[in-house]
Amino acid sequence: MHVQVLWTTYGTHYDPQYFPNPESFDPNRFEEAVRPYVYLPFGGGPRLCARFELAKMQILVFMHMMVTKYDWSLVYLHEPITIDPLPAPLYGMPINIYERNTKSN
Ligand code: HEM
Repeated sequence: MHVQVLWTTYGTHYDPQYFPNPESFDPNRFEEAVRPYVYLPFGGGPRLCARFELAKMQILVFMHMMVTKYDWSLVYLHEPITIDPLPAPLYGMPINIYERNTKSN
């Protein structure tokens, strides 16, 4: 018998056994260590993303600049998220963005 297995990150990322209320935005859930091979945005094992540390550092720097140097707001406050096949904001999440006047802050 020939068996094919399709594995996706959704299997564990949306499993309430590992992530209670998986649909809710709750960054604090990561304060507790996650079991190995449960949260895999960068893959895992020998094919683990070759530059996941660079990617995480870039995201960290980007987020830091966004909250310290700029004021910004969402154009669509309740923009739906589509899954096709990865989650993405339906309209590309446009924002209004302004550089902060750091001298007066
Ligand atoms: C948020 C950013 C990123 C995400 C979510 C991501 C995610 C992934 C995932 C899921 C894989 C596949 C792992 C597997 O096959 O099991 C992968 C592989 C890979 N990624 Fe990334 N990645 C990111 C950024 C980057 C960056 C910035 C680089 C390079 C500068 C990079 C280079 C690679 C390479 C070379 C592989 C293939 C590794 C291999 O097959 O041996 N990635 N990444």
